[in-house]
Amino acid sequence: VTGGTDGIGKAYCRELAARGLNIVIISRSMDKLRVTAEELEKDFGIVTSIIQADFTEGTRDLYLNIKEQLGDKEIGILVNNVGVMYDYPSLFLEVPETKIWQCINVNMMSVTMMTYIILPEMVKRRRGLVINMSSTSSFYPLPLMAAYSASKVKNFKRENNGDQHHSAGYLESEQGVV
Ligand SMILES: NC(=O)c1ccc[n+]([C@@H]2O[C@H](COP(=O)([O-])OP(=O)(O)OC[C@H]3O[C@@H](n4cnc5c(N)ncnc54)[C@H](OP(=O)(O)O)[C@@H]3O)[C@@H](O)[C@H]2O)c1
Repeated sequence: VTGGTDGIGKAYCRELAARGLNIVIISRSMDKLRVTAEELEKDFGIVTSIIQADFTEGTRDLYLNIKEQLGDKEIGILVNNVGVMYDYPSLFLEVPETKIWQCINVNMMSVTMMTYIILPEMVKRRRGLVINMSSTSSFYPLPLMAAYSASKVKNFKRENNGDQHHSAGYLESEQGVV
């Protein structure tokens, strides 16, 4: 689970752990990773692994490092959850350049590269699930959220095999539609 130490990602960790799955959490802050991993192990009796990574970097080395740390773990479900928005809705030209890079690297690059790393073993096993955390803001070009809305995955699909099909879906939760 990327971005699994807070918010929706942490909720995914807890729901999956409650069903007996061991969890790998990939996130930025080591202290939050440790606390979340301990919490999951204590509450659900599962095994956790943590990988510290800052997806804003968006470099090839970042993903090589994640791949190396994942090693030969069998990943049954990849939750591409990590995502960033602006601090507040802004006109495109008023968004700091660093925030634009963050939207692209965290929201788009992480989904693409994490899937690229993990999907091959799923294909070999003919079994696996990739969940991409979208946003209703990706459904239309949104004023004041132009880069964010463009960067949220809506339909990520590999054309060469019908089984490898990733598309956005609705999840109705108490907090609304995600
Ligand atoms: N919340 C909403 O209303 C909403 C609505 C629609 C869609 N979404 C989507 O749902 C997903 C989760 O949103 P959320 O609101 O639950 O997020 P959140 O509460 O802000 O949680 C963010 C998580 O991602 C990690 N993270 C943030 N930046 C990171 C980075 N650069 N590298 C690695 N990890 C990073 C955080 O770890 P650290 O604290 O260590 O940085 C934390 O674990 C996102 O993709 C978002 O676009 C959210």
